[in-house]
Amino acid sequence: MKVTVKTCGLDNVDADLLVLPFSSRELKSEADKKLSGFGIELVAVKDFKADAGEVVVLYGCSSGSSSGRIALLGLGEGKSVDDWRKASLSIASKALDLKVEKLAADFSRIPVLAEATGQDISSLTSTFVQGCYTGSYRFDRLKSGKLDKKKSECKVKEIEELILCSEEGISEEIGKGAEIGRIVGSCRNMARDLVNLPGNMLQAEDLAKAAKESGKKYGYSVTVLQKKEIEALGMGGLLSVNKGSFFPPTFTILDYKPKGKGKLTVALVGKGITFDSGGISLKPAEGMGEMKSDMSGAASVLGAIEAAARLELPLHVIGFIPSTDNMPSGTAMKPGDVITTYSGITVEVGNTDAEGRLILADALTYAKEKYKPDVIIDLATLTGACIVALGNAVAGLFSNDDKLAEDIFMAGELTGEKVWRMPLWALYDEQIKSDIADVNNTGGRGAGSVTAAKFLEKFIDGHKKWAHIDIAGPAFNAKSAGKITGGTGFGVSLLIEVMKKWC
Ligand code: BES
Ligand code: MN
Ligand code: ZN
Repeated sequence: MKVTVKTCGLDNVDADLLVLPFSSRELKSEADKKLSGFGIELVAVKDFKADAGEVVVLYGCSSGSSSGRIALLGLGEGKSVDDWRKASLSIASKALDLKVEKLAADFSRIPVLAEATGQDISSLTSTFVQGCYTGSYRFDRLKSGKLDKKKSECKVKEIEELILCSEEGISEEIGKGAEIGRIVGSCRNMARDLVNLPGNMLQAEDLAKAAKESGKKYGYSVTVLQKKEIEALGMGGLLSVNKGSFFPPTFTILDYKPKGKGKLTVALVGKGITFDSGGISLKPAEGMGEMKSDMSGAASVLGAIEAAARLELPLHVIGFIPSTDNMPSGTAMKPGDVITTYSGITVEVGNTDAEGRLILADALTYAKEKYKPDVIIDLATLTGACIVALGNAVAGLFSNDDKLAEDIFMAGELTGEKVWRMPLWALYDEQIKSDIADVNNTGGRGAGSVTAAKFLEKFIDGHKKWAHIDIAGPAFNAKSAGKITGGTGFGVSLLIEVMKKWC
């Protein structure tokens, strides 16, 4: 999707669908004026309440686009960014259903609307554009169409162009926001593609290849450590999880350096389990297929690094992606095994299904030791317990630094990728004590996401600014959860927002 900014009225633009956004508060005062310009009387649309995300499509309007199609788009009260996001998602999704190629939106009143949300023009535009990317995303590349009457029925046609129409003085600000939204939105969708690819189509080496391609395209360096090098380094966590697999593991390092000296060095670590069967501690069959999404953390780290590079953020950002699948076999890691991680810390494997923390342990220590980052943030679909605690829409946040936690929380409020902080009190250490090794990888039933975080904390080697984000809930929408199912790319927008704040 191309995004363009035009300085002209909506009635002068050539598009398949014209969008007029209204908040419920201004419906009475503004709508009359706007609509009469298109030969529509407000009474004709009296059912339109401007609820957030509400769309009413009108046909046969007297002026405007060749198709004569106009959509009224509700912004709710127009006070919250969440309502804007909802609205943009909904209009983009609708436009896709209507097979719209060119979508034009009226952005002439964005200064007023931005003020009502307490946002600047550029940031609200970015939210809108990101929402359009999110709402118009479909994953249909694996549909052959062989069983459909018309082949075109199973493949959606992308929206080619999104046109934002405004006035002279504000178009630059809109343009700035549109560009950020375009980059973050497309990187988020790239992450979603990776998550949606099934386990038989995305192994560790494929994930590494995706990183390589992105690095080449956007000018940052990507190093892939192969099994031999991982062995030489002694990454016992990653190697143990990989023992049951037919495929070799990879450890990918994505290194984006800004032109000048970066203000900060940020390490982003992502869990890259391409499929989590649970290993010998096998998961139940029900819903196991969703575990193709267990590399969502890795996908979002890749998306965030790509976005950072494309936005040319003045930060040194390094991504770390340990990757393998977690499979049972005659050679697989077993419950009761004791393994030695890259840090030298020994771990008793209480449950082979607690594999994410084993591969992250190696990556966290490696990131801290080799790059001495100012900040470390890891993203992982780590525990089912986090879904029990916070549900499917919200991620769990753990941090040993209040300022960092606050920054991430605020970025969540702004981007809609919400996080809620949970504790890291020392009392939880009791649960992961081992009789025969330094630590156990499981901590019993209670507080499962906290004990997982406490486990990770042991591998950052005393680093003072670390955050762990458990995205088990929001990374993937199961079938029943709503219209657009599958990977969400949760984390890309959040990480970019946090990092932008540090620039
Ligand atoms: N990948 C899962 C966590 C998960 C569950 C993510 C559901 C998304 C949806 C993780 O590897 C796992 O299996 N965790 C175990 C830990 C337990 C064995 C201590 C869990 O949550 O049950
Ligand atoms: Mn698991
Ligand atoms: Zn897992």
